[in-house]
Amino acid sequence: MTTQEAIYSRRAVRDFKDELIPESILHDLIDAAIQAPSAINAQPWAFVVVQDKAILDHISRRTRDLMEAQPMSEELRAKVFKPGWSIFYNATTLIVVCARPEGSHPEWDCCLAAENLLLAARDMAIGGCIIGFAWAALALPDVKELLGIPESYDAVMPIILGYPREFPAPTGRRSPEILSWKVAARA
Ligand SMILES: Cc1cc2nc3c(=O)[nH]c(=O)nc-3n(C[C@H](O)[C@H](O)[C@H](O)COP(=O)(O)O)c2cc1C
Repeated sequence: MTTQEAIYSRRAVRDFKDELIPESILHDLIDAAIQAPSAINAQPWAFVVVQDKAILDHISRRTRDLMEAQPMSEELRAKVFKPGWSIFYNATTLIVVCARPEGSHPEWDCCLAAENLLLAARDMAIGGCIIGFAWAALALPDVKELLGIPESYDAVMPIILGYPREFPAPTGRRSPEILSWKVAARA
């Protein structure tokens, strides 16, 4: 697969087979992630890998507890509080890209690493989806401790991964808003 093909066919995948991603492949994905650029080359990323359903269910439950009091549409409430629903869908793997407090913009660097990881995954026919829903639970001290995330680190990009039942078809994008495009007049 070319880089272009990976970019244009990557989609958020939320429906996975039970098959577990082998450890060596996860190392390859993390290796692709850390090829990302980072401000002043700080490389401020760190990774948590979870392939334990009990832990994934625990984080999902903690998220739902936190969301209970929050305002949300009836549609979303019905989805989130449906018995058996998990914020991680049925993914067997979660990788959390965490930011070490180093460099000038560690969170941004981690986002770049996350996109590298997702594109490398697409190239290996692995699907993924960023799960922002998990941010609140991943900021809780006991959840950070459970996952071995030091207090000073931030869980920036929670990414579920797995072998998709199918890759969703590419969706369109709105035209880019080009605010200006200044070209100097040539003599
Ligand atoms: C920062 C961020 C947070 C996201 N959080 C969630 C989430 O909590 N749950 C979910 O199902 N999808 C989540 N997504 C996936 C987006 O919904 C998805 O990327 C978007 O709809 C575009 O679809 P595509 O990735 O297939 O192009 C998130 C994506 C980003 C970039």
